[in-house]
Amino acid sequence: MSAQVTRRSLVLGSSAVVATALARTRPLSAAEAAAPVAPAQSGGGLARLIANENPYGPAASARRAVADSLATAWQYPMGHDQDLKKQIAEREGLTPSHIMLADGSSEILRIAGLVYGTGGREVVAARPTFGFLQDYARQLGATVTEVPLDEQLRHDLKGLAAAVTGKTGLLYVCNPNNPTGTLIPGPELRPFLQAMASRTTVLVDEAYLDLWDDWPAHTATDRVRAGDPVIVTRTFSKLHGMAGLRVGYALAPPEIIQRLEKHRMTLLGCAGVAAATASYQDLEFQAFSRARLQEGLAITTGALRELKLRHVEQGRGNFVFFDTGGPLADFSAAMRRAGYQVGRPFPPYDTWCRVSMGTVEQMRGFAAALRDYF
Ligand SMILES: Cc1ncc(COP(=O)(O)O)c(C=O)c1O
Repeated sequence: MSAQVTRRSLVLGSSAVVATALARTRPLSAAEAAAPVAPAQSGGGLARLIANENPYGPAASARRAVADSLATAWQYPMGHDQDLKKQIAEREGLTPSHIMLADGSSEILRIAGLVYGTGGREVVAARPTFGFLQDYARQLGATVTEVPLDEQLRHDLKGLAAAVTGKTGLLYVCNPNNPTGTLIPGPELRPFLQAMASRTTVLVDEAYLDLWDDWPAHTATDRVRAGDPVIVTRTFSKLHGMAGLRVGYALAPPEIIQRLEKHRMTLLGCAGVAAATASYQDLEFQAFSRARLQEGLAITTGALRELKLRHVEQGRGNFVFFDTGGPLADFSAAMRRAGYQVGRPFPPYDTWCRVSMGTVEQMRGFAAALRDYF
């Protein structure tokens, strides 16, 4: 077996961090390539560590709410989301007219791409970042200007500000960023948004922000309260573990919400809204979800530190971004054989892998598979 050894060093994340890398590129042998995939880890198929889901959800309270919602599922869902809107408004210090619920936050990202990215306007975003809005805007004819992340894999706020022109319809900021997990702390983000307010609309995607208890310190909602042209998006897919039930929301000044609402294509199903309403109040489940996530992250980053692989040490997503040191396809094929599905490419970081947190048990297994591989 050939092994190519490289040494690098890089500091990533906000406080402490990473690490000297000793990464080895290991091509698969013919026997390895032909080997069958390992038996199921959690009762069938590969462990899904590829889509940033939360296998601990939905909460038992949400499951009961879905079952109860079936009694009125013969009705068109109209007005059934008012309770949830009121609860969100109360927690955020906003009014229900500041809130749009949608079929996952990705529906809102697409609507924003449609509203702000057409008519000869441009979208500005980091690279790599979550691409849903940009891809849709491109399909509609928008130009998308991408600004590389900085050396610590964080948003380059100066570079983003410089890329905004008179033609820019929307600036997309993913905080924390997917796939790197890096966070723009609230005290840096808020003045940036204030400075942008006279220049363009900013969408701050906070899909992962509430995975940490201190999310109020970093959210952009105070700029929404101040009336700036800021759209904050959130989701029930991550902390609440209900990606399949499709509920997300936007927080924005009422005139922006009205603009977005005009382009809505779906009515939210009653089951998703019922589950989200129950889960939003279920603080015990949210704490449980956060605790399991922290355990998974500690196991994973512990293994990466031990193996001296470059990674984002204090990422704020339910995933870790790390450098495999070699072709990602080889690494993913080996992990697949060990029973773990990883390996979505995030160019230009062609040797880096984003691993999503599965159950704590799955992450112990993945850490063992990492130790075997490197
Ligand atoms: C940054 C980010 N925003 C939005 C989404 C979409 O979430 P939803 O399930 O609410 O559509 C994802 C999904 O992975 C994401 O990573």
